This record gives sequence, C-alpha cells and structure tokens, in this order.
Amino acid sequence: MTQTPMPSFPAGFRWGAATAAYQIEGGVNEGGRGASIWDTFSHEPDRIADGSTGDVTCDHYHQYAADVALMAELGLRAYRFSIAWPRIQPTGAGPANPEGLAFYDRLVDSLLSHGIEPAATLYHWDLPQALQDAGGWQNRDTAARFGEYADAVATALGDRVKLWMTLNEPFIHYAVGHLLGIHAPGLNLYQSSFPVVHHMLLGHGLAVAALRRHSSSPVAIANNYTPVWATGPDGTRESATDVDVAAAGVYDTFHNRLFTDPLLLGRYPDGVERLSTMDLDSIVLDGDLAVIGAPLDALGVNYYQPTAISAPEPDSPIPFSLQTVQGYPTTSFGWPVVPDGLRQLLTLLHERYPNLPPIWVTENGCAYDDEPGPDRSIVDDKRITYLDGHIRALHAAMGAGVAVHGYCTWSMMDNWEWAEGFTKRFGLVHVDFPTLQRTPKASFAWYRDLIRQQP
Ligand code: GCO
Repeated sequence: MTQTPMPSFPAGFRWGAATAAYQIEGGVNEGGRGASIWDTFSHEPDRIADGSTGDVTCDHYHQYAADVALMAELGLRAYRFSIAWPRIQPTGAGPANPEGLAFYDRLVDSLLSHGIEPAATLYHWDLPQALQDAGGWQNRDTAARFGEYADAVATALGDRVKLWMTLNEPFIHYAVGHLLGIHAPGLNLYQSSFPVVHHMLLGHGLAVAALRRHSSSPVAIANNYTPVWATGPDGTRESATDVDVAAAGVYDTFHNRLFTDPLLLGRYPDGVERLSTMDLDSIVLDGDLAVIGAPLDALGVNYYQPTAISAPEPDSPIPFSLQTVQGYPTTSFGWPVVPDGLRQLLTLLHERYPNLPPIWVTENGCAYDDEPGPDRSIVDDKRITYLDGHIRALHAAMGAGVAVHGYCTWSMMDNWEWAEGFTKRFGLVHVDFPTLQRTPKASFAWYRDLIRQQP
C-alpha cells in the first residue's frame, strides 16, 4: 500500500458513496409499491446468475436508519441513492403514492439530520412494469410519464435533495437491457432500438424542466463512460491498425457520445443512423432536441474501466469487436484496474465539450470476494488500492483543469448486482445476505480517515 499522503482536494469537495433502489431496498411488496421491470425480469428463470431476486437484498427499506448511521460514521458529505419510480407511481402514472413518498421523506430527513447531502437519481432502471406493458421506452408516452414522475418527486422533496440526477447510465440500460437482453426488460431490438435512446433522452429533458419548477438544487444526469483503446491483432494498443482505430471511433460514439452530444451539443453524433432502420425524423420531432439540450448544472460520470476495441469480425453486422484490456490486474468481475483511465476520461470530456458543466464522479468502485475472517474483520486491501489509485487520478485531472465537485464510490454496501445477483461485492460495508448483518470492511475505515483528513 502506498504511503504517500493523499493530496488535498478543494474545501467543500463532496465525498460520497452510491447505491440504487432495486439493488438495496427490498420491501418490494410494501408501502404500496408497484412492480418494476426488474421484479419481472429477476423472477424469470435463468436470468440471474445465482437465481436470486431483488425481493429482499439489503432490506434497506426497513434498515435505512441504521444504514444512514453507518454513513454518518463514515463521514460522508453526500449520499447518492435512487428513488424507485414504482414506489411513487405504482403503475407509472397518476397521483403520487403517499407511502412511497413518505419513505424517501424519512430517508432524506435522516440524511440531513446527520449533515449528509442527499443526491437522488430519479431512474436507476426500475421502470414500472405497467409502462413496459405499454411499450416502455420504445413508446414516446413514457417520456411524458417520466416528466410527470419527476414533477411529483420534486414537489415533495424540493430543495432537501441537494443534487438531482435524472437517469442512471442510459447507455447501459439501452445496450444491455434493450440490445443484448441481459438486463431488464430483456429485449434485442437492434436496428429498431433508436426510439429507446431518444425517448430516454426526451424523458431526461422533461424531467430537467420539472425539477427546475420545484427545486433550486443542481440537476445532472449520471452517464457511464469509458476511455476507448484501439487494439491491434496481438491485443496491444501499439499494434492497432487504421481499421482498429476507426472501429474504436465508432464505439466511442456509441458508448460515450450517444447520450452526451444531444445534452451538451444539442445534436446526435454522426453515425446514429446505424442504430435504426427507421427514419429518424419520425422519431426526433420538432422541438425535442431543445428539450433534451436544456443546460445541466453538473454531469455525473460513472467510471469503472477502459474498453479495448478492434476492427469488426468479417461479415459481422456490428462495426467493432470488443477485446480484453491486457496488462492490468483485474477485479473479481474480470474488469481491468486502470486508475489513469479516470484521468484520461475526464480530460477527454473536458476537451470534447466546451460547455462541460462541473463533474461529479457518481460511481467508481470494484468487486472483490471479501468475506469476514474468524474475528469478523474484512481486510479488503485490493479495494483500498483501487480507490487510492482512482482518487489520485481524479486529483490529477482536477489539477489539469477539470472541474469536479464530488466523488461517490460504488458502493456504500454490498448489494444485488443485477444479472450477477449476490455474486459480486462492491461495498465498503459487507452484507451477510441471509442474516442482513452489516460489517464495515477495512476500506470503510480507510475512506473514513481519508475524508477526515480532507479540508
Ligand atoms: C451501474 C449500475 C450499478 C452497478 C455498478 C457495478 O451504474 O453500472 O447502475 O448499479 O451495480 O455499476 O456494476
């Protein structure tokens, strides 16, 4: 472990941690909550690696007060969580459910009472099933429903929420849930997928307007980004050829620009027509891009790893091929640990978007199979090394001129990792899922001490 002291971040920098409703709450049939697409998906056979569901997870719905006390012990200055749309509107439309609002009212007030700033994501993939039954994000009406949902939440929570994020990782939700079918709603739309892209972005824009009607707190989106490394035939970057570089450019557009150019440049990136056999003008209606491009107060960046890309396989309909990033240690998820990738990414965004708003790193973390020892201690040194390296890389990016206001590690606690179920542990706090016992790991104390030493 490095002994070099962590450099100082600006006074007021928000040190945080992140979670998401379906991954930690449980209580899926309580408080008037309706079904989400993840309730449906996780209960279908062969969808989840360990056959588990989000029915209970960390039981945060009942244990939130004790979890907030742990956040206070950690010394968090901000806590990023998500609001379950099906708790607020069980069928995705109509009047807000008072019991659903009451849970987040209690959570927000508990955080504020401990001096922790609530940072709320409106949509972390748990679409009400009733809306999916009506076409989900393929249906333009879902965008309007999302704007109404945002209005209901902002009316109730207003300025007590100190940072709003509309969508979490729309790219991942689109690519993994609507193209690959590995996440809910389990679709393989391919060439008819562009409406999902556009309607999520339109919903984002309508939500931005709704949030600003009822709250003066900053509004953001939390996108997943990755530095794209052109990789050649021998798996190294040095051997990349022109066709590999071109394929990397296509992937960069697909992953990093598709859900950002419309927000910060007011237009879709070149090449978006590859995603749809449909006439884009029948999907992108007059005025849509103005709604989508409403200025943001902040940009959430979720970073985990770089992506290696090479030229497409012969006769492949996909204009790139994913490769393995070689030469770095990997997490138990198999993801390469590349701290400097965060610096590269933030610098890329800073250079690409002249009007880039201040950034929050809204997710960054690692999965390792940490289990308590005989004395119940959990010495997760690899997570400490991961966080140390990435926070130093973040500091380097800020030193190069990138404005960053906060850092939220993923995750506050071990939780339900979507199609991987309970097999991937990302938390600063270990959760024994059968007993729900929480045990802070060594990384919890490390992060606590880091925050204490910061101005
Ligand atoms: C994401 C997901 C998180 C994951 C985390 C680790 O932002 O990708 O929303 O919920 O759990 O990223 O995969």
